[in-house]
Amino acid sequence: MFKILAFETSCDDTSVAIIDSNYKVYVNLISSQTTHEDFGGVVPELASRIHIKNITKLTKLALNKANLAFKDIDALAVSINPGLIGALLVGVSFAKSLAYALHKPLIAVNHMLGHIYANKIEHPKLQPPYLALIVSGGHTELVDFKEIDNFTIVGKTRDDAAGEAFDKTAKLLHLGYPGGPLIDNLAIKGDPMFHRFPRALDKKDNFDFSFSGLKTSIRNYLRSQDKQTINDNIAHISASVQKAIVDSLVSKTINYAKKIKTKNIVVAGGVSANSCLRKEMISKAGEIGCKVYIPPIQYCMDNAAMIGSAAIEKFNRKEFSSLDLNAFSTKGTRFI
Ligand code: KG4
Ligand code: ZN
Repeated sequence: MFKILAFETSCDDTSVAIIDSNYKVYVNLISSQTTHEDFGGVVPELASRIHIKNITKLTKLALNKANLAFKDIDALAVSINPGLIGALLVGVSFAKSLAYALHKPLIAVNHMLGHIYANKIEHPKLQPPYLALIVSGGHTELVDFKEIDNFTIVGKTRDDAAGEAFDKTAKLLHLGYPGGPLIDNLAIKGDPMFHRFPRALDKKDNFDFSFSGLKTSIRNYLRSQDKQTINDNIAHISASVQKAIVDSLVSKTINYAKKIKTKNIVVAGGVSANSCLRKEMISKAGEIGCKVYIPPIQYCMDNAAMIGSAAIEKFNRKEFSSLDLNAFSTKGTRFI
């Protein structure tokens, strides 16, 4: 049995976790940076500086909470891409320094793969083949995994990511940032049929996503209403927007699952925390005899436990990185 100390600093959450080779999470600390709320989005330079302030303290705290010392750790894992380059560099430099000082192996992890491996914490035996819907603040991809290193991206967003659609809607509604959880909460009390917002690219054989038209349609709708009506119906509007986003994600995933006759669907990334997406995906997949894997809520948003989880198989294969490892900001699952 081995233990991995893992770091995640790709965006605005500094996270440190310890996980063992049986996928047992000892600790998963996440420090979310609230500073960005004032700007309505993440300010990259601020994010990097806050990661630097947080990462040493969080690491000490993680070891304390798990009642472990550096000598009990067998490897360091860190996300190296995709993400904000300055933010990623903080985690990578810190993990490299520890690997050097402690003489322990270093494991590089693709952040999107980390999101998928968040599912292994609850289901350690989960293996491809599966169809993965990866939905975060920067990505929306439908990926057909034959094996973990043999996959095809069968659909992706042509403009905004699903999380971005939630965030931009929240901004239009003056709700705050990040928008996903805020809209999700409001939508619980709302009627999703209150207003029909468009579902783009809805032809059966089109597996790409598009959310920029939805954003325009929300803006136009809000312009056509007076302030009072918007305030009185904020829960209904939230529920209607959420339904439009979720319908699009679920219908494309289910159509592709039918096409390739897969038995397993994996949902990953921050948007997988969405209560409506979780419910609809499980229900629609059930109708075609598919099992759905979605991480427990605490492993949906960016966290280091998922990075540690993705590092376990790499440790077993001795896929270690040298100390000249670098971060890079390149998008998506393409560079797993
Ligand atoms: O994966 P993640 O934590 O960071 C990135 O890698 O981007 O995803 C963050 C995104 C944000 O856009 C946020 O609004 C969205 O996930 N999100 C949600 C929910 N929780 C987080 N979207 C919808 N419903 C939620 N409950
Ligand atoms: Zn993420």
